Amino acid sequence: MAPSEGALLEARDLHARYGEIEAIRGVDLTVARGSIVALLGANGAGKTSTLRALTGTIKTTGTVVFAGRTLQRRTPEDAARIGIGHVPEGRGTLSSLSVWENLMLGAYCVSKRASVRARCDRVIGYFPWLAERKHQPAGTLSGGEQQMLAIARALMLEPQLLLLDEPSLGLGPKIVRDIFALLRTINQQDGVSILVAEQNATVALAVADHAYVLETGRVAVSGPSSELAGNDRVRRSYLGY
Ligand SMILES: Nc1ncnc2c1ncn2[C@@H]1O[C@H](COP(=O)(O)OP(=O)(O)OP(=O)(O)O)[C@@H](O)[C@H]1O
Ligand SMILES: [Mg+2]
Repeated sequence: MAPSEGALLEARDLHARYGEIEAIRGVDLTVARGSIVALLGANGAGKTSTLRALTGTIKTTGTVVFAGRTLQRRTPEDAARIGIGHVPEGRGTLSSLSVWENLMLGAYCVSKRASVRARCDRVIGYFPWLAERKHQPAGTLSGGEQQMLAIARALMLEPQLLLLDEPSLGLGPKIVRDIFALLRTINQQDGVSILVAEQNATVALAVADHAYVLETGRVAVSGPSSELAGNDRVRRSYLGY
């Protein structure tokens, strides 16, 4: 498959299953370099499975081209190495480890100390409170703080593309707005492209450039966020508001 101009990630005809259950059935999606893309849909629509398919966390068929290269063998380790950071559903922070230890896990593939330090400084620039809480067990942070720590940990990889799975899950409206504002800043300042799965369509469409709506494992509708947000039929049929 020839990569489209300007695309950082292109997935074509992705299928993924859990045993007998076909979770996604021919998903096509593109993340333009430097953009924020929202992956919307109701419970069970296939958002998590799509992100997992991209990083090889579930058995998948289909084509994925990242930064001009076809990813033949997809594994989570390879995805991290080539610059795809994945903040999974439920955050994946390790509660018994300290804030600092969690952050360092994000830099596990970086061997140079000076480089780890530079990454830490950059990440702490976004989340200054991490420095003050460095010895606190991650499990004692609030839900919003744990989500931010999970994002900070993924940024330690210096990813070209950040995948986020429902960063708003279980959080109040104020912290959700803060997290999405931060994603916009990270996107603009560091040029990190973002693919964010969300049930909260309002907040995701407000920051995303483009959006895909999944329904039972397929893309039901896609387009520029402003067009989807402004289309009453799309809003009523697929976004539930
Ligand atoms: N571990 C699993 N074993 C079997 N089936 C699964 C598993 N995980 C997901 N599924 C099924 O795959 C389909 C897609 O689920 P997925 O988790 O991708 O949806 P989602 O859009 O992320 O939903 P939610 O908004 O609830 O997180 C659903 O039918 C779900 O029941
Ligand atoms: Mg999910």
